[in-house]
Amino acid sequence: MPTAAGRLRRALGLPELPPRFKRAPLRMPASVSADGLTLRAAARRVEIAPGVAVEAWSPGDGPVGPTIRVRTGDSARITLANALSEPTILHWHGLRVPEMADGHPRLAIPTGATYQYEFPVIDRAGTYWYHAHPHHRTGVQVYRGMAGLLVIGDAAEDALGLPEGEHELPLFIQDRRLAADSTFAYEPAMHEQMEGFFGDAVFANGIRLPSKSVETTTYRVRVVNGTTSRILRLALSNGQPFTLIGNDGGLLPAPATLTHIDMGTGERVDLLIDFGTVAVGSRVMLMSAAFESPARMGGMSMGRGMGGGMGMGRMGAGGVAQGAAMALVEFTVDRAVTPVSWKPRPLPRLVTPDPRTAKRTRTFQFNSAMMQHTINGREFDMERIDETVRFGDTEVWTFVNDSPFPHPVHMHEVQFRVVERIGGRARIMPWERGLKDTVLVYPGERVSVAATFDSYRGRFLMHCHNMVHEDMGMMMNYAIA
Ligand code: C2O
Ligand code: CU
Ligand code: CU
Repeated sequence: MPTAAGRLRRALGLPELPPRFKRAPLRMPASVSADGLTLRAAARRVEIAPGVAVEAWSPGDGPVGPTIRVRTGDSARITLANALSEPTILHWHGLRVPEMADGHPRLAIPTGATYQYEFPVIDRAGTYWYHAHPHHRTGVQVYRGMAGLLVIGDAAEDALGLPEGEHELPLFIQDRRLAADSTFAYEPAMHEQMEGFFGDAVFANGIRLPSKSVETTTYRVRVVNGTTSRILRLALSNGQPFTLIGNDGGLLPAPATLTHIDMGTGERVDLLIDFGTVAVGSRVMLMSAAFESPARMGGMSMGRGMGGGMGMGRMGAGGVAQGAAMALVEFTVDRAVTPVSWKPRPLPRLVTPDPRTAKRTRTFQFNSAMMQHTINGREFDMERIDETVRFGDTEVWTFVNDSPFPHPVHMHEVQFRVVERIGGRARIMPWERGLKDTVLVYPGERVSVAATFDSYRGRFLMHCHNMVHEDMGMMMNYAIA
């Protein structure tokens, strides 16, 4: 008789647990405040697993940057010092900041230079992140570690009494390949310049194949998809549901109980995972469950996800194929405690941009063909302003994907509301409610979002966050004037 969990596992395409082997203990990046912070970007040898050291490029001492913790209303004063061998600049993904603090690629600083950021934190509590953003080099720099989490707290969130301290786990997820000389190998081959670059091993917070010991209680798990190109289908290996409480722009209007969540590069989720019903001594994997890759070539899906198994769905030069199952983080349930089950309380009221008040609608075509990735037929030009929006207006932007590849579309300087998806999946997914700054647009889909441009005037970006596409120019400037 198949158990309910067994049926769920099969429905999600989850394989049986992989054989037990020694995983590396998950580490949490140091927490730092943004008041007078200096981030020194440099090549460093870091441990990615016990006894395995690799050269990473990081804005801190660890394999990824420290977790910056701020509160709404704080002022951030951050110095970036560039000790890398090439230009860089940092961007605060999801935050609304003045133009000169946004990390536009034209602001990249050379080796040896510093850049001073000053901005008030005006966004709500939530899981944001920061990463390198120089033109053509975002992919490789983030891949090597030039990224970290930025967590905002506020009073409305405090009132909920969510799990905190050691029961709050920020997870910055990447997939990478290690070259024979112990460097992170990043050389997208021809087909990878079209679909994207996929690693063969999962890293969380810069640790390869990590494991975390947990207690029999509820944890708040914040997940950032920091991969170059991979869509993650988050699920637990025992088929157990989790509670989604937040995404890119902070807490949702209401919690949702789900057994899986799809997230593209740049997207974040805030989850409550209850290990209270898991037997002490057992383990649960946070997975990317198998799914059919949305990429299409000649009418055929490129994925071999369903046959993939545990990271076995290799393709071409060595990455695990898009859609193949991968274990992200192993949780070993080691200690029984009196479980603190978080009772879903009403989440703070949330007002999102109203598409009925939109002053304008704009349409953007995402195309990938003949080794080019374009928006409305054009590649990124640092100095060309492609669209100008009036300060204070609400607009509806429609992202149209007639290309063979999925595009996670990201807007700087706004948190938008996803208002409609036509074609493809043809609905707004439960994890796309609330406020977002990045949305997945699959081949054959048109996704509309409503945004209000009322933070700062200046030049900002909209782009595909598949970092291979972004680096090849699937990006445009828009001005808020
Ligand atoms: Cu994650 Cu242009 O950003
Ligand atoms: Cu951004
Ligand atoms: Cu793309």
